[in-house]
Amino acid sequence: MRYHTSMKKNPNLHSEPLTLLGGISAETFLKDYWHKKPLLIRGAMPSFEGFLTPNELAGLACEEDVQSRLISTVKKEWKLEQGPFAEKRFAKLPERDWTLLVQSVNHHMQEANDLLQQFHFIPHARLDDLMVSYAPDGGGVGPHFDSYDVFLLQGCGQRIWHISEQEDLTLVSGAPLRILKHFRAEQTFTLSAGDMLYLPPQVAHWGIAVGDCMTYSIGFRAPSAQEIAGEFLNYLQEHRTLPGMYADPDLALQLHPAEIGDGMVKQVSSILNGLKWSEEDVADFLGQYLTEPKSHLVFDTPKNISLPAFEKRMKSQGIQLSFKSQLLSAANCFYLNGEKVVVDDSSASLLMTLANTRVLLPEYISAQQALTEAFVAETHAWYLAGCIMFLQ
Ligand code: SIN
Ligand code: CO
Repeated sequence: MRYHTSMKKNPNLHSEPLTLLGGISAETFLKDYWHKKPLLIRGAMPSFEGFLTPNELAGLACEEDVQSRLISTVKKEWKLEQGPFAEKRFAKLPERDWTLLVQSVNHHMQEANDLLQQFHFIPHARLDDLMVSYAPDGGGVGPHFDSYDVFLLQGCGQRIWHISEQEDLTLVSGAPLRILKHFRAEQTFTLSAGDMLYLPPQVAHWGIAVGDCMTYSIGFRAPSAQEIAGEFLNYLQEHRTLPGMYADPDLALQLHPAEIGDGMVKQVSSILNGLKWSEEDVADFLGQYLTEPKSHLVFDTPKNISLPAFEKRMKSQGIQLSFKSQLLSAANCFYLNGEKVVVDDSSASLLMTLANTRVLLPEYISAQQALTEAFVAETHAWYLAGCIMFLQ
């Protein structure tokens, strides 16, 4: 299905100064800082204190389908424990020098989704997740670098960030987590609630809690070329059938029967040269790959509801993507949770709005003259599969 160019984003929206970016526009941020250099933003979200208490974060870390880690230093040695944790684990922790990190909090909370929406000037395809950490005094994950662009937003408390654009990224060998062997801080900042530090990939950093502190990391992962190519080869395997088969009617006697002959190498090369792809294939691959839910995710399915009842409620209440869902568009097609979506052309603007904002407000749905039967049937199926929900 297709959408029209007039529905693409209005670029002027991105030239307004944003408090979130310290008074510069999204356009300037992308030009001067994104993927290039760090930016410290005091008062990026002036009234932000976070939306999780340490206890609520610990509660999430006890759940089966939540990825969490507990990192501590015991006699200067780094220790890593993977969740899910039993509640009693938190009763036995020392006063200081540990941190609890919970990945993909946006899969579980509306507030986390609302926070991520503020970063909509970065394409959704680049977003990885919102990670939230809690640490008592002295806690942190040690000096390291990430392959992420990350916005480190301070929730409650304070954290000292040491950062360095050093070239030496040698890691301590044998440590259970990636710790830089020769970290030399070049700049140090103390962040309080609502302050934010943007770091591009590979910038070394070390955040240390000053008293109880919570940090919200909005991460944009940059996959390696190796990972992209590997995944694309898997995609090709599923989407290509090459005709013919290896044939050697002119087989000549070989001096060494154990040798793989030149003729065989040449013929296989020519078979492989038949493996072609276009940018359309790459867009289709990206649509599927980037919306594919991580393997540990479980979608909560609602109680059954008939199609007419669903339609009535959708019109009166509106719908939104489930927290764990990802809807992207590529080359004028849409992809939801790893699958290409086929709906009629007249539903394209609805789907584009749902993809961009993650919600379809009831007034927006009612204003559509063309709410087709096919679209209602499709969204009903998504609802039953737990991919969308009624607006909360
Ligand atoms: C943290 O929140 O403690 C760690 C975030 C990071 O360093 O990437
Ligand atoms: Co980091």
